[in-house]
Amino acid sequence: MTHPLEQLRDEALREIGSAPDEQALESVRVKYLGKSGSVSAWGEQMKTLAKEEKPVIGKLLNDVRNAVTGAIEARAQQFRSQKESGALAKIDISLPGTPRDIGAVHPLTQMWERSIEIFRRMGFALADGPDVEDEWHCFDALNTPPEHPARNEQDTFYLPDGRLLRTHTSTVQIRTMRGAPPPIRVIAPGAAYRRDELDATHSPQFHQIEGLYVDENVSVADLKGTLEFFMRELFGADTAVEFRPHFFPFTEPSAEVDYSCFKCGGPGCRICKWSGWIELGGSGMVHPNVLRAANVDPEEFTGFAFGLGIDRTCARIYELDDIRLLFENDVRFLEQFR
Ligand code: DAH
Repeated sequence: MTHPLEQLRDEALREIGSAPDEQALESVRVKYLGKSGSVSAWGEQMKTLAKEEKPVIGKLLNDVRNAVTGAIEARAQQFRSQKESGALAKIDISLPGTPRDIGAVHPLTQMWERSIEIFRRMGFALADGPDVEDEWHCFDALNTPPEHPARNEQDTFYLPDGRLLRTHTSTVQIRTMRGAPPPIRVIAPGAAYRRDELDATHSPQFHQIEGLYVDENVSVADLKGTLEFFMRELFGADTAVEFRPHFFPFTEPSAEVDYSCFKCGGPGCRICKWSGWIELGGSGMVHPNVLRAANVDPEEFTGFAFGLGIDRTCARIYELDDIRLLFENDVRFLEQFR
């Protein structure tokens, strides 16, 4: 003969199985397992049972409660997955997907990365320094005397505390040399700042790649070879390179570096404006005073340095008439570089 508890269980399982929805299932749960539900009521009755009946009926009650709880959970899970597949069925997989915009690497960054990769092959490591500098690193240590026009308030952004936005990346030369002894072979790409009106060819924030090589017996030939290799890798193997004597306080001798126009058809060329040459930046042999300021003995070591302008070069490579395009973050411009 089946025990009434077993009958109760079978009844509950039947009702659970035929509950049409979650709401009905919840009523079944309350009916059997709720506080005053019939399975719970049996728990109360346990107290009245004879001592020898208690363990047998107690175990049965437990089994019944577990069976009912398990069945309710299983049925609830069924409802949940029915709901999910119902929702999925409503999706029309033949519809075209929502296109997702993928960003492009900014042309300046692309040029930057190409340049770093070329210098890396020649053994140059990356170095950097802060954009907010002190006058000493920006000028004094670079052999630039107090009366030099570059230090003028008209040309440089000073902060109230006397520091300034670095006017060139050459500051990193000093920081690198003071950080570790030669041999040193680094490039330092970064931003520089000058009081310039923003127009098609000028910007108060611009970008440079600084280079520094200090070791025993570094010569002008090393400087020329390094920059020639760089420019031929960047602009093409038949690029001609010219070193034009110039003056910089921090190098002696100093030269500006030009490369032959990669577009030049001669008269009317929109890239070089017909001169045939394009300036890339400044360079020279590190001045002994600069080495001394950075605690490097000029009797033991020599070095070369260069600072290359990135923005205008980038503008020329992509034939942009206006460098402001590089800073305006207009997506219609930027998405062309995917
Ligand atoms: N710092 C210079 C400028 O911004 C560029 C430059 C010239 C850097 C000669 C150098 C150098 O390292 O040797 O105009």
